[in-house]
Amino acid sequence: MTELFTHNTAITGGADPLLSVRNVSNSYISRSFGLFGKKEIKPVLDNVNLDIAEGEIFGLSGESGCGKSTLARCILGLIDYEGEIFWSGQKGPQQGGQKQEQRPPALVQMVFQDPGASLSPSKKIGWLLEEPLVIHKRAPEERSRKVDEMLVRVGLDPSYKTRRVGELSGGQKQRVCIGRSLILEPKLLIADEAISALDVSVGAQILNLFRELHESLGLAILFISHNMDAAEYLCDRIAVMKNGKFNPFSNK
Ligand SMILES: Nc1ncnc2c1ncn2[C@@H]1O[C@H](COP(=O)(O)OP(=O)(O)O)[C@@H](O)[C@H]1O
Ligand SMILES: [Mg+2]
Repeated sequence: MTELFTHNTAITGGADPLLSVRNVSNSYISRSFGLFGKKEIKPVLDNVNLDIAEGEIFGLSGESGCGKSTLARCILGLIDYEGEIFWSGQKGPQQGGQKQEQRPPALVQMVFQDPGASLSPSKKIGWLLEEPLVIHKRAPEERSRKVDEMLVRVGLDPSYKTRRVGELSGGQKQRVCIGRSLILEPKLLIADEAISALDVSVGAQILNLFRELHESLGLAILFISHNMDAAEYLCDRIAVMKNGKFNPFSNK
C-alpha cells in the first residue's frame, strides 16, 4: 500500500535518514525588461520537510510548475535555499552554484526528462559511462570493469560500448543516462520526469529498471513525476506538491 502524505511534511522520525530536508523555502528573483525593470520575487518552495531513508523509493508528484524540479535543485546543491538539508545527519551545502566537484556525487545524482538532450549524439556509449570515472581519476582497469558491469545492470548488451548515442532509441538513451548517473555509486538517484518523454510501454520498462536497481543496489530513489499512476506503481511513499507545499487537500 502506498503511503500518501497529505500535510506539508513527510518526516519519518527515527534514526538519521539518508536525506532530511528541513523547512526548505526558496524564491526566484526575476527582473522585468527595460531600464526601470522591476525586481520581482517569486516564492516557489514553502517550508518543505521530507525524509528519505537509505534504499527507499520516494515519490514526488504534483502539477507542472509546482516546484518539484526546484526542490531537486536544492537537494543537489545547485541553487540557494533557506532551511537545512542533511545527509545521514550531516549538514549539506547551502550555497547554490557550486562547482561540480564540491557537490556530493557519492550521495546524489540525477536523471532528467529528455535523455536525448543530455547526451551528445556523436559520443560513444562506453565513453559516456567512463567519463565520470575519468573525472574522478579512477584506474583504467577499474573503469573498464565498471563500464561493462553498468551496461549489464541497465539492460544493455556490453557490445553497446562502441555504439554512438545517435544510433539508440529513446529508452536505450535513458538507460545510458541512468548508467552514467550510477557509475559513481551514489546512494540517492533523483529521477526528474525520467519517463515523461517516453512511450508508455518504454516508460514502464524504465520503471521496472528503477525497481531492479533499487533492489540489487539498495539504491534510494526520489522519483519525481506528474504521473501519479507511475508514482503509485513504483513508490512506497508519495508527497503531492501544490504551489511549493505538500498539498493538504489531495486525498487520492
Ligand atoms: N530559473 C528560474 N527563474 C525564475 N523562475 C523559475 C526558474 N525555474 C523555475 N521557475 C519557476 O518556479 C516554479 C516552479 O518550477 P519547477 O520547480 O520547474 O516546477 P515543476 O518541476 O514542478 O514543474 C514555476 O513557476 C517556474 O516558472
Ligand atoms: Mg520539473
